[in-house]
Amino acid sequence: MPRTMGHELSLDFLHVVEAAAIAAARTMGQGKRKYSDKVAVEKMREELKNVPIRGEIVIGEGERDKAPMLYIGEKVGKDFDSTNPEEYPEVDIAVDPLEGTNLCATGAPNSIAVLAAAERGGLLNAPDMYMNKLVVGPAAKGHVDIDAPVKENLKIIARRLNRDVTDLVVIVLDRPRHQKLMEDIRAAGARIQLIGDGDLSAGISAAVAGSGVHAVMGIGGAPEGVLTAAAMRCLNGEIQARFVLKDQLAQEDLDKVTDDNQTIERMKSMGIQDPKKVYTTNDLAPGKNIIFAAAGVTSGNMLKGVRFFGDGIRTQSLIMTTLPHYVRFIDSIKLNQAPDVVVRF
Ligand code: FBP
Repeated sequence: MPRTMGHELSLDFLHVVEAAAIAAARTMGQGKRKYSDKVAVEKMREELKNVPIRGEIVIGEGERDKAPMLYIGEKVGKDFDSTNPEEYPEVDIAVDPLEGTNLCATGAPNSIAVLAAAERGGLLNAPDMYMNKLVVGPAAKGHVDIDAPVKENLKIIARRLNRDVTDLVVIVLDRPRHQKLMEDIRAAGARIQLIGDGDLSAGISAAVAGSGVHAVMGIGGAPEGVLTAAAMRCLNGEIQARFVLKDQLAQEDLDKVTDDNQTIERMKSMGIQDPKKVYTTNDLAPGKNIIFAAAGVTSGNMLKGVRFFGDGIRTQSLIMTTLPHYVRFIDSIKLNQAPDVVVRF
């Protein structure tokens, strides 16, 4: 009998994201985003070799900006005894080894190393293209509609959170393509937090009460969309999303996308027949057994970044599973092999 994927793998994935975060953090502020990404990708690939799975990458971010990547279809996991190939469970993996490459390269907050896993078929196999997203927390789940006017969604989110629209904070990526979206949010009266990068960690914040973030709106990467969906499954939040073709983008975005016909062909080859479909959280991350792991690279809203303190390295990670349903914030200290190393709170 093949082994089924179990939550005990979460500790293995914790090691994978911690290692990628540490590798990337060493490059913080060097101003070389591709290099930061490369070291995170290489470390993640190396660490995945220790995980007892028959894994396949289904989401590998980096195609759009021609960054180093763990590529879609790449097999990952520990070498197994070929006479007994069913010894390890089959697992689909979505990765973003360094989410927020610019953030790390400039030492700005909120860059993270991320991985999500599910049983085979449990994560949408999607190309690295743009996606329009609406992310909300548990209170507004099931009440918003990505096709409704921005004003309506904000009214509903405010009502569900027992407050006024003027109390809401919406995170939006600071891009020219979001000019109209920003005008609509301002006209509705809500507050905006513009971010340079990192709509995945923003989405996680929107689903955690007390973070001061109530929604994420706008166009970002599709890989980040699938990873956000995996996180929403664990946090009981919601993402609605739709792939974006050229007509919804600004001039500045066009060198990152291929011709629409080519994009549609690529989507079809990955099983996406209707490019206009609205994807729900469950469409993007349908797995029963989801594991989501993220480690802070630079300090941010949710996670502290990697701290090197001479005698060791301290990391903060978020590990979540759906079966059993756990959300764990983990503070890890890797100590040097020396007798008098001090551990501090
Ligand atoms: P990287 O980690 O590849 O740098 O992506 C950061 C990011 O800001 C994502 O969070 C977001 O989804 C996407 O890029 C937006 O893409 P673009 O920078 O092309 O607008």
